[in-house]
Amino acid sequence: MTIPSFETERLRLRPFRDEDAVALHRIVSAEGMLKYFPGPPIPSLEKSERLVRHQIEQWTTVGYAWWAVELKATGQLAGWNGLQYLPDTNETEIGFLIDRMLWGRGLTTEAARIGLQYGFRELAMGEIIALAHPDNGASRRVIEKLGMRFDRVTEYFGTQLARYKLSAAMHGRSVAETSRRA
Ligand SMILES: CC(C)(COP(=O)(O)OP(=O)(O)OC[C@H]1O[C@@H](n2cnc3c(N)ncnc32)[C@H](O)[C@@H]1OP(=O)(O)O)[C@@H](O)C(=O)NCCC(=O)NCCS
Repeated sequence: MTIPSFETERLRLRPFRDEDAVALHRIVSAEGMLKYFPGPPIPSLEKSERLVRHQIEQWTTVGYAWWAVELKATGQLAGWNGLQYLPDTNETEIGFLIDRMLWGRGLTTEAARIGLQYGFRELAMGEIIALAHPDNGASRRVIEKLGMRFDRVTEYFGTQLARYKLSAAMHGRSVAETSRRA
């Protein structure tokens, strides 16, 4: 399939390419970046290579996956953002990570709105969830800014995570409200 690309005011969401692995490895190797992820704190380059390949394949096998996010101004890889299928629970999760140097500028929220729109409008999903470590304040704040509702703390990937959800109907209402305010 042709993987779709999107542009926001400051970002381009595009398919991952194999050569992104080196830049991604640099991004995820920054101190504290994977603090709330399971696994070793400093991942190997091979792990980033596998992640990139997996995301490219998921678009074909599942029909959606993460996008590589780059800064429109420079073309620099910023991180990942987008939807991921969770086969164990048959759910779709919105996920994100962004270069430490870019934290706190609203970029993740800007990119994640595209993933939600894509899931609800293009793929006609009924519900999208988000998962965050209970102590991951920045991630939880992004999820709340997206209009997602806290559901419960429950086990995913062998660990307790805060689960948030957003229905297509709720998403439609919040988009309508945002455009009325604009
Ligand atoms: C989570 C992450 C993607 C957020 O990216 P970002 O581009 O900085 O997000 P945004 O700028 O869109 O929004 C961040 C919000 O969190 C707030 N925030 C930052 N640190 C916080 C903290 N410790 N506690 C609570 N809120 C916090 C910011 O103030 C901002 O809210 P505001 O717009 O109301 O001021 C980024 O921190 C990251 O990549 N972390 C490591 C990877 C990760 O944990 N990914 C999520 C896995 S579930």
